[in-house]
Amino acid sequence: MQEIKNGINKNSKIAVLCGGMSSEAEVSMRSGKGCFDALQRLGYKNSQMVVVDKDIALKLKDGKFDCAFNALHGKYGEDGCIQGVLEILQIPYTGCGVMSSSICMNKEFTKRILSTNSDIIMAKSAFVRKGDDLFEAVKGLKYPLFVKPVSEGSSFGMTKVDRKEDLKSAYELAVKYNDDVLIEEFIDGFFVTVGVLEKDGKPFATEILEIRPKTEWYDFEAKYTSGMSEFICPANLSADVTERVKQAAVMAFETAGCRSVSRIDFMMKDDIPYLLEINTSPGMTATSDLPAQAAAMDIDYDNLVQLILNSAGLNK
Ligand SMILES: Nc1ncnc2c1ncn2[C@@H]1O[C@H](COP(=O)(O)OP(=O)(O)O)[C@@H](O)[C@H]1O
Ligand SMILES: [Mg+2]
Repeated sequence: MQEIKNGINKNSKIAVLCGGMSSEAEVSMRSGKGCFDALQRLGYKNSQMVVVDKDIALKLKDGKFDCAFNALHGKYGEDGCIQGVLEILQIPYTGCGVMSSSICMNKEFTKRILSTNSDIIMAKSAFVRKGDDLFEAVKGLKYPLFVKPVSEGSSFGMTKVDRKEDLKSAYELAVKYNDDVLIEEFIDGFFVTVGVLEKDGKPFATEILEIRPKTEWYDFEAKYTSGMSEFICPANLSADVTERVKQAAVMAFETAGCRSVSRIDFMMKDDIPYLLEINTSPGMTATSDLPAQAAAMDIDYDNLVQLILNSAGLNK
């Protein structure tokens, strides 16, 4: 029986964690089903889909699972919470650990950590906490601005602001989601996203996916309406720029303390990748970005799931 370094083998009892208690529960069910089906095809016959709710700690303990495959997205699944439960239960799991999951869920704290690496470029920004003077906070920034809730996904609550007069209403929309709001200078470029995976403990970048939305920027409508975006993979970038983007992705992964898998978003302008965010539990549905990025380098969906499983572990 072939055994992976982390002790997982074809007889291991693997819990595919899905659903959960976030706004992305439905997408997570589809990610989970995809990963579960792949594990079955790969011969992990003792894998099970485990729907996450408040009783998850009991379900995992009573189920005597050897490993957890994390297909959760958003709050509690991607922010260090479920990772903490798995650490306590000593069940090795795929994806990032407690600390990097928690940091990367918050776009401002991601920027603070990544700014310790001067080779990672990000849009100039202001962080507005509840009670702060909004106009004072953005004094040093140039319009147009981009206003976003600090820890949401799916482009929820975001607005491009062209004029000072429209800043207050954009802030009021964002603050409905989180008390803290991130305001960045708008990067007038194009959007790319890159997966980072691990092989034998060493991170590597996938091919780069460019997404061209029909809307002005990649908003909720463009993300979830079929035909509203065009996907180009590998992105049409020179060899040099491709290398620069891939290096930035791996550097960000390492600087934020990520492991196992992540997907990193950038805006490209004048051949410079401006890092937007690190997604530590990226979508794994049949039409998600990471499977497309992996496929472009001949890693099919099942092999992608196997690679991720191989990188399961606990914090050391
Ligand atoms: N500073 C920015 N300049 C230009 N566009 C941006 C900026 N920040 C975000 N966007 C646009 O908004 C989209 C969502 O932003 P992102 O930070 O990745 O949040 P989410 O977690 O919702 O994916 C991006 O894909 C991009 O199109
Ligand atoms: Mg994003």
